Amino acid sequence: MRPVVALVPAAGRGVRLGEPTPKAFVAVGGTPMVRLAVDGLIASGAVHRVVVVVPAELVETATTLLSTTSLTGGSMPPVPVHVVVGGAERTDSVRAGIAAAPDAAFYLVHDAARALTPPELIARVAAALQAGSQAVVPALPVVDTVKSVDDAGIVTGTPDRAHLRAIQTPQGFAADLLRRAYATDDGATDDAGLVERLGVAVRTVPGDPLAFKITTPLDLHLAEALLADGTRSPVAGHAQAVAR
Ligand code: C5P
Repeated sequence: MRPVVALVPAAGRGVRLGEPTPKAFVAVGGTPMVRLAVDGLIASGAVHRVVVVVPAELVETATTLLSTTSLTGGSMPPVPVHVVVGGAERTDSVRAGIAAAPDAAFYLVHDAARALTPPELIARVAAALQAGSQAVVPALPVVDTVKSVDDAGIVTGTPDRAHLRAIQTPQGFAADLLRRAYATDDGATDDAGLVERLGVAVRTVPGDPLAFKITTPLDLHLAEALLADGTRSPVAGHAQAVAR
């Protein structure tokens, strides 16, 4: 199996959660999001190494926080977790992650803020890569009607909802393709957007509502409730399930 390296951008300083702490280090159910995200990646059994990208002042904190990740990801050997320094924009942080893992065959780029992402979703993305897809994203049907508007807020169009999808992470890529996409970065909002501009087909696999991005205080409440009522159980249980 060719090496899959997970890149975890966790260097955002966004304060939309209303917390002074950088978002990925805010605790959900007592555990910082970045740790939950890394445990989920390892529990998928599909990742050989993890590179976590953090703000410079949190390298030591992150290294300590992640040094006790003891999950082995099923039958795989222990998964090393490396911590590197990110940048001002998410794309800078992903670029730092790519540079830290030049030997990867595939990258899975996974937002730390999608802390409750089920390991099974991560395994689906990796499996599609191993089966030959160059670029893979998890996608969910859109439940709201989506409209485009002009600068004055006047509606300019209503795309057919049947052809719209909300895209989650991890987004998976053949390593050479993602490196090429980042060489021409001109500000896409997701990694697959950069790849699309190269004219490469991006495949979708089924996403999962639990892979939502924890962005607002409402999201944080939802994540806490999901952990508290057992809808989303600790990933150690998933690791055993994947191993069987
Ligand atoms: O801010 P946003 O929700 O788009 O962030 C998505 C993910 O990218 C988060 O996990 C965040 O920590 C990460 N990020 C980063 N470096 C930045 C900005 C965001 O690693 N400069």
